[in-house]
Amino acid sequence: MTVRLAVFASGTGSNFASIAQAVRDRALDVELALLFCDNPGAPVLERAREFSVPTLTFTPADCGTRLGYEQRILDSLLAESIDLVALAGYMRIVRSPLLEAYAGRIVNLHPALLPAFPGVRAIADAFEAGASETGVTVHFIDAGTDTGPIIAQRAVPIDPGEGLEELESRIHQVEHQMYPEVLQSVIGGLR
Ligand code: GRF
Repeated sequence: MTVRLAVFASGTGSNFASIAQAVRDRALDVELALLFCDNPGAPVLERAREFSVPTLTFTPADCGTRLGYEQRILDSLLAESIDLVALAGYMRIVRSPLLEAYAGRIVNLHPALLPAFPGVRAIADAFEAGASETGVTVHFIDAGTDTGPIIAQRAVPIDPGEGLEELESRIHQVEHQMYPEVLQSVIGGLR
């Protein structure tokens, strides 16, 4: 059985691209069946076109209520027989009924060593705190913000004297390598 993967993203999509490239290179053994994007202007949509990955785009405002939004996403995943969801820069908390229906099958990528530095400013927060290291976490989601069982972590030392942009760039490089590898290990457990 080929695992059907959906990626959720809201912005640039460099991690979407690294996943799509890993699928193309057969390093990640899934069918990349869908990109869901909640931001109609996001650059990730162009990346999906480049990789010929089907896209779906709508916002909570398009659906009237937040519940309606989550239900419409869930209906779309079921219609596409999606087995696993990878969040890659998706800037929303996944809620009911999607969260329950896909319990244990939604994975998130976070640019810090959770539980340290949750939230959207994780890299800057670690940098500004003067931490000696930060890193990358891949975890199953739960109802919280950047909480849920951790699958894998990689540390990234913060070099004294480096700037925030340099640190961001090094963390993204680790993400691009790590996320497809960890997703491959996760699909082994789904089969
Ligand atoms: C990544 O740093 C990811 O860890 C975080 O959002 C960023 C998304 O970057 N959740 P991109 O859109 O994949 O380039």
